Amino acid sequence: MKNKKIINVAIFASGNGSNFQAIVDSYKRGFLRNIKIALLVCDRPQAYVIKRAQKANINCFLVERKQFQTRNKFENFIIQKLKKEKIDLICLAGYMRVLSPKFVLKYKNKILNIHPALLPAFKGENGIKDAFNYAVKITGVTVHFVDNGVDTGPIILQEAVGIKERDTLKSLEEKIHKIEHIIYPKAIRIVADGKVRIIGRKVKILNK
Ligand code: GRF
Repeated sequence: MKNKKIINVAIFASGNGSNFQAIVDSYKRGFLRNIKIALLVCDRPQAYVIKRAQKANINCFLVERKQFQTRNKFENFIIQKLKKEKIDLICLAGYMRVLSPKFVLKYKNKILNIHPALLPAFKGENGIKDAFNYAVKITGVTVHFVDNGVDTGPIILQEAVGIKERDTLKSLEEKIHKIEHIIYPKAIRIVADGKVRIIGRKVKILNK
C-alpha cells in the first residue's frame, strides 16, 4: 500500500463492534494518521455496531444476505459500494461471513482480519472458548491478511495472552478483547503506512 495518500478504510462487522470502536477511538486520538474510516459494512440490522457508527458519525452500509438470491449478488452489491466510496483497505472486525475467493482476489492483500487466538491454533468462530476448553496455558490475538481459507492468511501481528488457573471464560474474553483493541489499530497503522512487504506467507514489517 502506497504511503502518504489517505487510505480509505471500510470496517466490516456483524455484532457488538468493540473492535470497530477501538479503531475509531485510535483514529480520533490521531494514532491512525494516514486513514479515513469511510464506511461500516454490516449484515445484521440488530447489531450494536450500527449504533456505534451513528454515534461516531460514520456512514453505515447495512446489507443483509437474505435480500439476495446468491452470495455472488450479495457480494457484488457490496463491491459496488466499496468502489463508489473508493475503499482501499477492508478491516474485518467480527464480520461473521466468509468472503468468496472472487471477493478476496479483488481486494488481494487489502483485507485484514482479527482473530481471538494465536493462529494457526483455534481457527473458526469460537477461538476464545475453544482455547479455554482445550485448557492451553497461552492463547492470544492474531491480525492477519485474508486469503481464501478461514483464518489462514499471512500473519501481521500476534500477541500472547496467558491463561491462569483463576481465569474463567469471561475473564479470558476480557483479557483477549483488551489486547485486540491495542493490536488491531497497530496493525492497521503499519499497513496503512505502507510498512509491510508480503513475501509468500511472511509479512515483513519495515521499521515499525
Ligand atoms: C472479536 O473477538 C474478534 O477477534 C472476532 O470477533 C470478535 C468481535 O468482537 N473476529 P467485537 O464485535 O469487535 O466486539
